[in-house]
Amino acid sequence: MSTERILIIGSNGQIGLELAEALRKNYGDEHVVCVDIRKLENQILPFEVLDVLDQNALLALVKKYEITQVYLLAALLSATAEKNPKFAWDLNMNGLFNVLDLAKEGHIKKVYWPSSIAVFGPSTPGQNTPQYTVMEPNTIYGISKLAGERFCEYYHQKYGVDVRSIRYPGLIGWKSAPGGGTTDYAVHIYHEALKNKTYECFLNAQTALPMMYMPDAIRATIQLMEAPAEQVKIRSSYNLAGISFNPEEIAASIRKHIPDFSITYKPDFRQSIADSWPASIDDTLAQQDWGWKIKYDLDAMTQEMLDNLKRVGNMAV
Ligand code: SER
Repeated sequence: MSTERILIIGSNGQIGLELAEALRKNYGDEHVVCVDIRKLENQILPFEVLDVLDQNALLALVKKYEITQVYLLAALLSATAEKNPKFAWDLNMNGLFNVLDLAKEGHIKKVYWPSSIAVFGPSTPGQNTPQYTVMEPNTIYGISKLAGERFCEYYHQKYGVDVRSIRYPGLIGWKSAPGGGTTDYAVHIYHEALKNKTYECFLNAQTALPMMYMPDAIRATIQLMEAPAEQVKIRSSYNLAGISFNPEEIAASIRKHIPDFSITYKPDFRQSIADSWPASIDDTLAQQDWGWKIKYDLDAMTQEMLDNLKRVGNMAV
């Protein structure tokens, strides 16, 4: 039986829900403590309501459950952050400091913190974006993620904190509703395809972005966290490529299952966010350092998204 006791902060969000399920399978229910600012109706225990900005409550909880590892997933995503910049900065940065400081002070051994393709900006080479390149994000979310990456590396170098991170592409899953991201059109489109056979997209047809099916993202996350420390050579955050496609291509993939599905385009403020991000990513270093390999392509993801959403009943989104 594992001696690890894992805390997931933001456990009821898009990543948290699926990560909690996977970690419970690997480590046992009692070894995975979930916290979020909201409790679900059918909340799986152990769970507590916690605001990551409440440093004292966080420390008390870590002591109470003898936590050894923290996955910090509480954050505002890109579109929501643009609407509430000050709070986004506060939550995304001070939440991270609270957790990094727990590790610095020796209360926990390991930290996972998600970064994003949003760390890149309009001056970054947009095709096959390398790990090390120009990074001038122009969204609040991207600025907070880039600053966070620098602090992760800083805490590792100065204080020996074992922090690990992935620059996620847009994440696509069927277990939760989309939650304020620019890449979330690629979740919403499956729901609408099943419900109405049509979707009005807030990005234009040609906007290619890196995306990833959630099972691949969860597998990558756990693989990185379980890798021997010496294999984790990058302590800012690792590029992960995922699959690159645009709205027209995901619509074509859906049409293989729903031939009369139609898509229309009405770009809004999220278009300029998407335009500032790369279309595709190079993840050679993740492959080399800890053996990363993607499994799902666009069509395999479409098949599973549609099958699962049909099975569980299309969520109202
Ligand atoms: N997928 C996120 C978003 O669109 C980026 O990390 O906000």
